[in-house]
Amino acid sequence: MESLKSFASDNNAPVHETVFHAMMEANRGDAIGYGDDRHTLAAEKMFREHFGDGIGVFFMFTGTAANVACLAHITRPFQAVVCSDKAHLENDECGAPERFSGCKLLKLPSADGKIRVDQILPLLGSLGFQHHAQPRVISITQATELGTVYRIEEIREIADFAHEHGMYLHMDGARLANAAASLRTSLAGLTVDAGVDVLSFGGTKNGLMAAEAVVFFDPALGEAFEYTRKQSMQLASKMRYISAQFNALLSGGLWLENAVRANAMAGKLAGILNTIPGIQITQPVETNAVFARIPARAIEKLKRKYFFYVWDAPQNEVRWMTAYHTTENDIEQFAGAVKEAMAD
Ligand SMILES: Cc1ncc(COP(=O)(O)O)c(C=O)c1O
Repeated sequence: MESLKSFASDNNAPVHETVFHAMMEANRGDAIGYGDDRHTLAAEKMFREHFGDGIGVFFMFTGTAANVACLAHITRPFQAVVCSDKAHLENDECGAPERFSGCKLLKLPSADGKIRVDQILPLLGSLGFQHHAQPRVISITQATELGTVYRIEEIREIADFAHEHGMYLHMDGARLANAAASLRTSLAGLTVDAGVDVLSFGGTKNGLMAAEAVVFFDPALGEAFEYTRKQSMQLASKMRYISAQFNALLSGGLWLENAVRANAMAGKLAGILNTIPGIQITQPVETNAVFARIPARAIEKLKRKYFFYVWDAPQNEVRWMTAYHTTENDIEQFAGAVKEAMAD
C-alpha cells in the first residue's frame, strides 16, 4: 500500500529530488572544508543576488541554531528579545535563546501569531531602568507559527519603531519562501527592503536537509559572526553539501515553485474543509498551514489513519500542514478521510 502523506509538518517531507541530485553532484572528489569551496562561494553569491551585495551570510544546520546564534551575537545578557507568545523562540527551542544569549524573552499575546507596535510600546518604559531587562531586539516570524503572514507595511512599521528606539528587527524566516509566495513578493521585499536587520533563512521546510542560514543586512552587525557560529558548534566541515542545496534552491525558481505548491495545497484543503459542517477553520489560510477545530471523536478517528498534531487539545484545534510534495490527490484522499471521520 502506498504510504499516506503526513499532514503533521513540512519537516516530514523528503528532501527535494533536485536538491538531492545537487548534493550528489557536489559529491565528487575532494573539496576544502569549512566553506572554502566553490559550492559555498556560489551559494553566497546566490544569497547576494536575492538580498543585495552588502550582506553577511552564514550557513547553519538548524533553524533553532540560526535564531539562537544570531540573537546571542547581537545582544548582551542584560537585554531582552520581544516576540509573540506563539513564537518558536518561546515555545519550541527548549530555552536555548535564554541559555545562549542570557536575554529574557518578553512575549506578547497574539491571537494570529503576529505582534504589533502598540503592544511593544509599553515595554519601552523599561529602557534606561536598571532593574529591568533592556529590550534590544524585536523578533517576528514570517510566515508565523499560525501560518499567517505579515504584510510589507506591517514589517516596515515594526522595523521603523525598532530603529527609532535603538532596537533591531530579527525575522525568523523558517518559512520565508511560503510568505513570499503568498504575498507575491521577492525574498528581499519582505526582509532587507522592509527594514529587517537580521534574518534566519529557512531551507529545510522548503525541501532541503539540515540547511539554514543567518543573513545580516548590515555586515557590521554580523561582524565576527564566524566566531559565534563556531562557538555555537554550527560550522560545517563538509560545508559543500549545505551550499549545494542552497544553490539548487535559489539559483532557479525552485524555492518559489516549492512554496507555491505547498501553499496552494493548504488552500485547496481549506476550501474542502469549509464545505464540511462541524469544522471551523480558526486562522486565515495564507501559507501552508490549516488550523481547524473539529470534534474530538473525529480527531481520534482520523489519527488512526494519519499522523498530525493536535495544536490546542482543550479547544479540539488541530494543525494540518502541507509541503512542496503534497499533491491534489493527497488532499482529496485526506479530505475524504476527514469527511468519513466527521460522518459518524
Ligand atoms: C517558526 C519556526 N522557526 C524555526 C524553526 C526551526 O526549527 P529547527 O531547529 O527544528 O530546524 C521551526 C521548525 O519547526 C519553525 O517552525
